[in-house]
Amino acid sequence: MVRTVVQKGTLVIMRAALLQAPGNCGATSIPAPLGIGFPYMSAMPAEVYAADMIDFVEVTPEALCRERHEDGHIRFDLVVEQFARARETCATLPMVVHGVQLSIGSAHGWNGAYLDMLEQLQQAWPFAWHSEHLSFQTIPGPHGEALETGVPLPMPYTEEAASLVVERCAVIARRFGVPFLLENPAHYLETQGNVADTRERDESPGLDEIGFMNRITMGGACRQLLDLHNLHCNAVNHGFDAFKALDRLALERVVEIHLAGGSWREGFLMDAHDGVVPQPVWDLLAYALPRAPNVAGVVFEVLDRYAPKVGVDAMVRELEHARAVWNACRQRRPMPVRAFA
Ligand SMILES: [Fe+2]
Repeated sequence: MVRTVVQKGTLVIMRAALLQAPGNCGATSIPAPLGIGFPYMSAMPAEVYAADMIDFVEVTPEALCRERHEDGHIRFDLVVEQFARARETCATLPMVVHGVQLSIGSAHGWNGAYLDMLEQLQQAWPFAWHSEHLSFQTIPGPHGEALETGVPLPMPYTEEAASLVVERCAVIARRFGVPFLLENPAHYLETQGNVADTRERDESPGLDEIGFMNRITMGGACRQLLDLHNLHCNAVNHGFDAFKALDRLALERVVEIHLAGGSWREGFLMDAHDGVVPQPVWDLLAYALPRAPNVAGVVFEVLDRYAPKVGVDAMVRELEHARAVWNACRQRRPMPVRAFA
């Protein structure tokens, strides 16, 4: 039984026992397929979260929190009113978590306060799996404090960086006991090795973004959230073939797929989450889904501030489109997974 105590606007959650989340099958197991998902946004009509519209909901826990800074560290307090409203709105749906402030790639340490908050959330609202971004967004300040970079930044594609993430994924897997996924990020500045290399592995001088992701997911403690719009943006901005990149990706490690729309700004295609899914991303979904046998969910992402611009009708059409692709794929036998580099 769940008991909640409100202290100074902070939700303190106490439970007699940890509930089992739908699809909770252990950190290293493959979750049961859920279907088509949509982010929780407080401004959306509650009807969107009816069980016949979507199959599961994706919650960004920081959106239910009040953030404060204390002794050079960021703290998150779940806000009782926001948490209760989200829980009630999505009561009929399985839930997965998609966090944004872990900063798993920061060399000086990750955001432990995020994980503390996530543990509190899990005890109150169990989730089938949780995910974060393969990036870093804090650097050490002159006194050891965490300074925010302002935007998530891609990690260097090195063995040292991959090992750091693999070790941290193992800690997270032990702590939460449900699958943990890392999302391939969009990135905009070219540095050596950060463009997906489409040559044969033997010709490649080192890890690129595809090889780096494979190195981490094949470490065994995490799986991948494949954001196809991020991949599309990187392919357009850095001039590589996204389909060939998919051929090199360890698609059997993919558990969730993100779809989204973006827009052009100052010569870059941005992962803005501000529109409908462009046709090239639908094409990538049709290509990837039959080749990724362990995908348990496909989510259409929209940022809450752009939801009014996109409109409810358009968002419903995108969800219906995603479901049609999902259903068509599940009626066919999975295609053979290609060898990856
Ligand atoms: Fe995403």
